Amino acid sequence: MNESVNRRDALRKLAGVSAAATLGAVAGAGAARGDDYNFANASDGVQVAGGWLTSPRGNKHMPVVTVTRDGDLARIKLVVKHPQGRKHHVEELRLYDANRQLLSTVTLHPEQSRPEATFVLQVPAGTPLLAVGGCNLHGLWFTEFKA
Ligand SMILES: [Fe+2]
Repeated sequence: MNESVNRRDALRKLAGVSAAATLGAVAGAGAARGDDYNFANASDGVQVAGGWLTSPRGNKHMPVVTVTRDGDLARIKLVVKHPQGRKHHVEELRLYDANRQLLSTVTLHPEQSRPEATFVLQVPAGTPLLAVGGCNLHGLWFTEFKA
């Protein structure tokens, strides 16, 4: 049994059956293409929620969120510290409310963009939100925060 299969099995235990299919495809895609990214495994503290990934220890796929307030407006900057390139890139950034209702999204060009975006929402201070970054090889990663 090779290392990528062991990682998949470990993630399957973490994620349960429904999320495991998604994770298996994601982990397998990275390994099969010879990607240099060391896919997060159980020892990295990766957690799965509804098929999306996160880690209390951080991961380069998780958006780094900065919020500044201007009255009722929250200016929310997302930055993903991940390289952009034709074969491997962050393809979108999204904002969701706490019920996973999509609030806003941005599609990114693989080579002619940086994985950054600023959203402006009219929400009360302290509103819980989710920032999501989508990598074409490694799936959707989220960061919880309050606006
Ligand atoms: Fe990636």
